[in-house]
Amino acid sequence: MLDFAQVVENRHSVRLFDGQPVPEDVVQRCLDMAMKSASSSNMQPWEFHWVRTPQIREELVKICFSQPAAKTAGELIVCVARTKAWDRVRLNTLEQLKKIKSEGFHVPDAAFDYYSQLAPKLYSVGLGGWLKRGYFFFKGLKQPTMRGPVNEADMKVWAIKSTSLACQTLMLAFQSEGYDSCPMEGFDPCRLKKLLNLPRDADTVMVLGVGKARPNGKALPRIRGERDWFVKIV
Ligand SMILES: Cc1cc2nc3c(=O)[nH]c(=O)nc-3n(C[C@H](O)[C@H](O)[C@H](O)COP(=O)(O)O)c2cc1C
Repeated sequence: MLDFAQVVENRHSVRLFDGQPVPEDVVQRCLDMAMKSASSSNMQPWEFHWVRTPQIREELVKICFSQPAAKTAGELIVCVARTKAWDRVRLNTLEQLKKIKSEGFHVPDAAFDYYSQLAPKLYSVGLGGWLKRGYFFFKGLKQPTMRGPVNEADMKVWAIKSTSLACQTLMLAFQSEGYDSCPMEGFDPCRLKKLLNLPRDADTVMVLGVGKARPNGKALPRIRGERDWFVKIV
């Protein structure tokens, strides 16, 4: 294992992999690490579709416009955000909180209230979203207030935010195991959803190519803008 700074330094988007598969235990370990990522209300809106079937992989490469990072990767993982899968997680969280409490841990009542009462209201959109929009507006005139999510678009942002964090964890996990990666959003999302038979509330966030870089796979040194464009001290 490398130290964290070294892992961050070594991660570099690789466009030319050696095409060798990544050992199954490495992929499974990295997926387990990704699932330890932070997520909004711990709702874990992500899914990782590790494409191992040769025919599906072939189609996936085409859907990624046959870009070199997809064509040469040892493994391809499609990272998906779900906007409507949170209720299963919410109910599971309630069960786990009850279990933890029965084992003697102090679980504040607020945690039970949150998952049983507040979260279903917070994450329900549609007609409830319009009512929430009005409620947030008037409450917000007087005090700091949540402003969303009030519609499907907000839920999409909500799910993609947490899923993107998990994608980063996944890339860093692979790097810590000595494998390179390339995140890709250069693909046809409609065809990808169809290929994987994804439900309507699924958003394909990234396709991750993983493997060992070819000797010339890391073509350029890292390019970044000026630090003070991005870091603000207020
Ligand atoms: C959301 C996202 C989408 C990306 N899509 C592609 C892609 O389709 N093809 C590609 O070659 N690189 C893609 N990249 C990689 C970026 O080009 C790369 O991260 C950036 O140039 C910085 O380089 P580094 O990752 O080596 O630090 C993507 C990166 C992100 C975060």
